[in-house]
Amino acid sequence: MSTQVGKVAAELMAPFTTGIDLERAELVTPCHRVVRRASDMRGHYADAEALEVLIAKGDPVHYEVFEILTPETRGNLSYCISKLYPGVVGEECFMTKGHYHTVAQTAELYLALRGEGIMLMKTAEGKVDTQKMVRGNMVYVPGYWAHRSINTGTEPLVSLCIYPAEAGHNYGDIETQGFPRRIYKRDGQIVMA
Ligand code: F6R
Ligand code: ZN
Repeated sequence: MSTQVGKVAAELMAPFTTGIDLERAELVTPCHRVVRRASDMRGHYADAEALEVLIAKGDPVHYEVFEILTPETRGNLSYCISKLYPGVVGEECFMTKGHYHTVAQTAELYLALRGEGIMLMKTAEGKVDTQKMVRGNMVYVPGYWAHRSINTGTEPLVSLCIYPAEAGHNYGDIETQGFPRRIYKRDGQIVMA
C-alpha cells in the first residue's frame, strides 16, 4: 500500500485547464504547434507535378496541429486541435500525411468541430475503412489502424483529437505505399477512387 502511494506521488501531475478559441478553432495555449506546408507533403499526392506547382506558387499551409502534450507514460492523455485547410492538389483533396501509432494498439478519438471531411483508415493487413467527419461526429480510430484526415469541404476541417500520451507517430509505409483509396473533387463532386 505504501509503495503504491509513493508511486502515485512520484507521477502526480497538477490538474490543468486549456481553452479552445472556438472562433479561430485553435487551442489558446498549445505546448507545441506543427505546421505542414505543401512542401512537407511530397510523396503523398497522386499528382506530384501539381504539388510542385503549388509549392512554387507560395507553398501554402496544408494543416496545423495545436498540441497539449503530457508525459508519455501509460495513463496520461494528450490532445490536439487539428486544422486542415481546404484545397486540392490536381483534383485530390488536401489531407494529412497519416500515421500508425508507435504503440500500435493505442486508439484515438476525433471529435469533428468544423468543416467536412473523411477519416480514411487502413491496417497493415489490407483492411480499409472511411468515416464521415462533420461537426459533432466522433470518429473512433481503434488501435492498429493508420489514419489520415481529408478535407472535402470549402472551409478548414477542425477536429479535437484525444489519444494516449504514449501513442507516438509511426509514418511507416505511408510515404511509400500510401492508402488504398484517394479522395478527389471532380466537377464539384467528391469521388473516392
Ligand atoms: C495524433 C493524431 C493527430 C495527427 C494530426 C496530423 O495521434 O492523430 O494529432 O498527428 O492530425 O496528422 P499527421 O501526424 O498524420 O501528419
Ligand atoms: Zn493518431
